[in-house]
Amino acid sequence: MCGIVGYIGNQDSKEILLRGLEKLEYRGYDSAGIAVVNEEGVHLFKEKGRIAELREIVDSSVKAPAGIGHTRWATHGVPSKENAHPHQSTSGRFTLVHNGVIENYAILKREQLQGVEFKSETDTEVIVQLIEKLANEGLEVEEAFSKAVSLLHGSYALALIDEQDKNTIYVAKNKSPLLVGLGSDFNVVASDAMAMLQVTDQYVELMDKEIVIVTKEKVTIKKLNGEVVERAPYTAELDASDIEKGTYPHYMLKEIDEQPLVLRKITQRYQNEANELHIDDHILAAMNEADRIYIVACGTSYHAGLVGKQFIEKWAKIPVEVHVASEFSYNMPILSEKPLFIFISQSGETADSRAVLVQVKELGYKALTITNVPGSTLSREADYTLLLHAGPEIAVASTKAYTAQLAVLSILAAVTATSKGINLEFDLVQELAIVANAMEVLCDDKETMEDIAREYLATTRNCFFIGRSVDFYVGLEGALKLKEISYIQAEGFAGGELKHGTIALIENNTPVIALATQEHVNLSIRGNVKEVAARGANPCIISMKGLETEEDRYVLPEVNEALAPLVAVIPLQLISYYAALHRDCDVDKPRNLAKSVTVE
Ligand code: F6R
Repeated sequence: MCGIVGYIGNQDSKEILLRGLEKLEYRGYDSAGIAVVNEEGVHLFKEKGRIAELREIVDSSVKAPAGIGHTRWATHGVPSKENAHPHQSTSGRFTLVHNGVIENYAILKREQLQGVEFKSETDTEVIVQLIEKLANEGLEVEEAFSKAVSLLHGSYALALIDEQDKNTIYVAKNKSPLLVGLGSDFNVVASDAMAMLQVTDQYVELMDKEIVIVTKEKVTIKKLNGEVVERAPYTAELDASDIEKGTYPHYMLKEIDEQPLVLRKITQRYQNEANELHIDDHILAAMNEADRIYIVACGTSYHAGLVGKQFIEKWAKIPVEVHVASEFSYNMPILSEKPLFIFISQSGETADSRAVLVQVKELGYKALTITNVPGSTLSREADYTLLLHAGPEIAVASTKAYTAQLAVLSILAAVTATSKGINLEFDLVQELAIVANAMEVLCDDKETMEDIAREYLATTRNCFFIGRSVDFYVGLEGALKLKEISYIQAEGFAGGELKHGTIALIENNTPVIALATQEHVNLSIRGNVKEVAARGANPCIISMKGLETEEDRYVLPEVNEALAPLVAVIPLQLISYYAALHRDCDVDKPRNLAKSVTVE
């Protein structure tokens, strides 16, 4: 959610900044801008819309060794050129980019900046005006930056340049992600290493409330009290090809197709030398000590948590509650005596989940993060981490992270069960291998998925997903995929709940996608299909081999019933993809959304 880049070195910064922003565009794409500084001063270019539109207005004749850039997902103020970053102070001396939300911006504006004329509606402009005010009062720039940062409440990743000094970028962060990348004769700033992989794979993690002074020769990290902090860099284990689309028209399609491979990789990564599934002993101990597990997540990751609850309760026999992070913060349930918290987050940066993590750590509880991003905030701040090993997920709509989350949760549950002496009567490694093969079959059957999308979703304004048991949870995920990328109003319902109200929405030809992968509810979900069909709906039954009937539109290859969600979600992802494509929607960058939601 919003992306930040910065470069200072011997090359012209413009192209490096623009290329960096292109890599971060999936984090926010309603406006973008860069500001570069040279002997003539600061040159500011910003535009509403995508990076491609920004490129058109950047003056190629300007050459500058330092600069900052930003791609925005609007929080304060509508998407517009005025509200686009970078923002400048009244005199134009200071220029700033910001990701996050300043909670006390109105107070700062009222109490510290009376009489200042603001050019935008953003909270960010308050920071840059404050820095200018403090510098005008006689503080050195570093002091002014540091003092301004100490007055901020909320989340921020900041990069500042000074018109009078083309040799320094000032950087700070709190809650929002930000890294400094190291090169020879240059250094960079980025909210995500993938933005600057073009020039370096060496990065230094920044901690909350640190001030960083970046020059082309040196990176100096300081605490707010001025104490200098030494920190070794790490190598970003990202392959440049991981973040390219290759021959695919969209990242989403590439990421859907990667799922069998990701699943095989996860199975391998979680096996020990004896080829047995293995989880770190500390994590196992925490699982075994817990009298109740609280899974906290948002969106697709929350949907994965619902399925994960089934694995853990059925296999490891530990009670599990699953909570939406944004609700949990403000409405915490009565906790058990020995709770263990599991945070599921593809990005590891989701602010709603982090807010809960901070709360439960303050209460002294243990937390495990399941994430795709090593070193992410949720990973760093939890006691334990399990990685998804899914590779970067760039499309805003999550696909491979969801199935990776299910796979890791299944391994966690199975290994915990085994450690308790519970016999699962199946070999999970083998079952996951069967799932990976089934995924491959489905990914190869895109033509049918496209046909289904055309047949059911070409002109409809709404669509329902129904299922019982875990099929209901997969239906929720199917509905989220469809609505977020095709803008068709889609909802997932428990099959049995229809008659309690929802069935009133069924009209002639309303598409109802019904999942039937679970034997114990097969007859009842088919009963629900009859109920909607009798009221004019156009049902599309997706069943599992062995449970199919003649009326089914698609039959999934057979896998272990408990693992059916990993397979059943794939047609739903593909159907959503093709529905969005037929409606000319921007599949990878749906309107109003952004990847990695770093505001609460
Ligand atoms: C939907 C989607 C979102 C995310 C949610 C949580 O396709 O991607 O619903 O799942 O914003 O994000 P993470 O998993 O990064 O915490």
